Amino acid sequence: MPTNTLADQPRRAAFDLLRGVAEQSAYANLLLPSLLRDRGLSGRDAALATELGYGTLRAQGTLDEILAACASRPLSTMDGPVLDVLRLGAYQALRTRIPAHAAVATTVDLARATGNGRASGFVNAVLRRVTAAAWDQWCDRLSVGAPALHRLAVRTAHPDWIAAAFADAVDGDLAETEAALAADDTRPQTHLVAWPGQLERDALVTEAGGTPGPWSPYAVRLDGGDPGGLAAIRSHRAAVQDEGSQLCGLALANARLDGPDDRWLDLCAGPGGKTALLAALAGPRGARVVANELHPHRAELVRQATSAWDVEVWVGDARALTDAGYDRVLLDAPCTGLGALRRRPEARWRRGPDDVPELATLQGELLAAALRLVRPGGIVAYVTCSPHLAETRDVVAKAELVDARPAFPGVPQLGAGPTVQLWPHRHGTDAMFCALLRRV
Ligand SMILES: C[S@@+](CC[C@H](N)C(=O)[O-])C[C@H]1O[C@@H](n2cnc3c(N)ncnc32)[C@H](O)[C@@H]1O
Repeated sequence: MPTNTLADQPRRAAFDLLRGVAEQSAYANLLLPSLLRDRGLSGRDAALATELGYGTLRAQGTLDEILAACASRPLSTMDGPVLDVLRLGAYQALRTRIPAHAAVATTVDLARATGNGRASGFVNAVLRRVTAAAWDQWCDRLSVGAPALHRLAVRTAHPDWIAAAFADAVDGDLAETEAALAADDTRPQTHLVAWPGQLERDALVTEAGGTPGPWSPYAVRLDGGDPGGLAAIRSHRAAVQDEGSQLCGLALANARLDGPDDRWLDLCAGPGGKTALLAALAGPRGARVVANELHPHRAELVRQATSAWDVEVWVGDARALTDAGYDRVLLDAPCTGLGALRRRPEARWRRGPDDVPELATLQGELLAAALRLVRPGGIVAYVTCSPHLAETRDVVAKAELVDARPAFPGVPQLGAGPTVQLWPHRHGTDAMFCALLRRV
């Protein structure tokens, strides 16, 4: 069959995405849009490139175990580009509806088209062995006799330590862990926010399609498409923002507060998505937002994100701030990001359990700063995009907690409180954690 070079553009883009992630430690969600734009890929071609690139990155650990079982030599001795070609081929054969023979043939073509033609026989032979079984059969074979949690981790393509962290966060409930891991192994919807005071949510639904978010009055959920092309986004009246992030910002803004309520602080603000939501809510209530961010380039992103509102942006380490007396403080802490793995496909294989203790220490120090900067009676929202207990429950264990659940009106399955853990499998949001603390 002759190679249709146009038809192979999506595979080529997916391959280049994998190379960028491997060689330059690129973030897939930042690199892919520019790859698609540069090559003029849109519609079905863009969707295929995204599915193949993101899917392969997400499944990489399990794909590598399968490839290791099929190859005559260790993966560590293979050239990086050849290994990425194999991963793409195995992903297509095992996790998409592309027929196995087409997956093998297009992958051999891809090897040739990317200058790896000398390995085409090897690629063909390995992939033929891969296609001898289906994904579930491979997963059973690879984890036969292993503990149930490891079997789930392999099947849903998660490292063991992340599967264990999810299990801990749902009190060891295996069925719920399975649901959480499975939801984390799927392509997420895109969530938009219509900035309050700038655009009615209904107008955003009319322009973008999709459906209104079930709980945030500003959220719209989309199944696909390129939100960057929407006029509402280009004119900064709307943005991409997970509904869970919106709910955490709203929880701080709407938490009950006695006394003055006009000084709000966003302690770790970059790139400024939640600052923008707070600023849009604060203005009509006569409050003013100060945003702080450690890194100057991220502080610049906060300035850009909040240019429509009156926000003062500071650059510096939040732990060194002395300007106290704020009524509401958001601490959206730097974290492992385990709650947004669906949106950052390579992250689960890049992060390691060793990242957690250092972050947990920083989170504790930032929380101490937040409690120093809020006035007596004022409220702090401690938020992470991670369900890892070392970054959530343990950080706030010694603090004076307010029940956060009433600040999430209408949201079901919030558990026993007083903190709130959102989940992809329960809420369709990122796994955001929110604790509300009142300074006594
Ligand atoms: C989870 S992100 C915040 C996301 C943001 N709230 C949003 O919704 O767009 C955490 C931010 O904290 C910043 N950061 C890390 N350490 C910090 C510190 N010691 N002081 C201030 N900011 C810090 C990081 O650079 C990062 O931009």
